Amino acid sequence: MKETLVVYYSKAGSVKKMAEDLAVKRDSDIYEIQDLVNRNGIFGFIKSGYHGLKKTCTPIGSVDIDLTRYKTVVVCGPIWAGNIASPVRTFLTKYADKIAQIEYVIMRGDKKNEYKEVFAELDNIAGKNNVGAKSLIDGELA
Ligand SMILES: Cc1cc2nc3c(=O)[nH]c(=O)nc-3n(C[C@H](O)[C@H](O)[C@H](O)COP(=O)(O)O)c2cc1C
Repeated sequence: MKETLVVYYSKAGSVKKMAEDLAVKRDSDIYEIQDLVNRNGIFGFIKSGYHGLKKTCTPIGSVDIDLTRYKTVVVCGPIWAGNIASPVRTFLTKYADKIAQIEYVIMRGDKKNEYKEVFAELDNIAGKNNVGAKSLIDGELA
């Protein structure tokens, strides 16, 4: 039984790669949020941007692991239209009350804007203050 769980959502693979690397570095379990929305192609991109912009909680697969067993959960996801990607928003909205200590890793395309204001919003959704928060550029490792 590991003390830390890395939870991630990734559309195009960059967050997935970072999260897998992080899970090894931190000797953590890992869990991928299951997105139930078709985000393929240009329409999928536009839809995703719209969901990000509108802060929509889109459907995800039900989380079948016991989050309460972990000391720390590191929630990782991409930035969409200036906000956290919708599947991560849904995850936090539904399950953050089961998390003891929370950390975030967000990933973005913009080299300059770190979107640090997103962390306060995530804390607000989660109903607790994070114990660690990182903003990475696409392709970076944590
Ligand atoms: C729909 C959509 C909207 C995005 N909006 C932003 C944005 O507002 N700012 C930004 O810096 N990057 C934005 N990006 C880039 C992603 O945040 C970045 O490429 C991230 O690393 C993608 O992670 P993934 O490969 O795990 O899906 C956007 C990407 C997508 C697909």
